[in-house]
Amino acid sequence: MDTQCDHKILDEILEKHQYNPGNIIAILQDTQEVYRYLPKDIFPYYSDRLGISQAQIFSIATFYENFSLEPKGKYVIKVCDGTACHVRKSAAILDQLRKELGLSSAKKTTGDLLFTVETVSCLGACGLAPTLTVNDQVMGMMTPQKVTDLLVTLREEKADAEM
Ligand code: FES
Repeated sequence: MDTQCDHKILDEILEKHQYNPGNIIAILQDTQEVYRYLPKDIFPYYSDRLGISQAQIFSIATFYENFSLEPKGKYVIKVCDGTACHVRKSAAILDQLRKELGLSSAKKTTGDLLFTVETVSCLGACGLAPTLTVNDQVMGMMTPQKVTDLLVTLREEKADAEM
C-alpha cells in the first residue's frame, strides 16, 4: 500500500524551506508529519524540485532512524525495553499488545492503519517503569490489563473523531 502524495502539500513544504536542498532533513520531517511516513513518490518529486539525486534523499531518509519508509498507524505505540522496564516485565506488555492487535516483530502495523507497535531502548522515564508512549505521550506503570484498557480507549477516541 502506498499513499498518492498531494503535490500541493509537498510544494507548501518546499516553499516553507525556500526550496533549499540544505534543509532536506527538515523537509523530510515536515513530510513525515503530514503522512506519518515518507511515501515513495516524494523521492522523485523532491529530487526534481531541489536538484539533488533521489539516492541522496533516500540515503538521508534511511540514515535517520526517526524516518519511516513504511506507513504507520494513527497511534504509534512504543514499548520501552530498556533495563529498568525489562526488569519490570515490559515483555508482558509488548506480548499483550501484539496479541490483541495481531502484530509481531515482523508485522508492526495493523491492516487498518490504526496501530503501530514498536520497541525503544529507554524513554527516560525509568521511575515509571514499565513505560510506553502513545504518539510521544508517556504512560507509566503499565500492566497487561492497562494495555487492554488503553486499546479500548484509543478505539473509542477514533470512533468519536469520526462521528
Ligand atoms: S528503561 Fe524504560 S524508561 Fe528507562
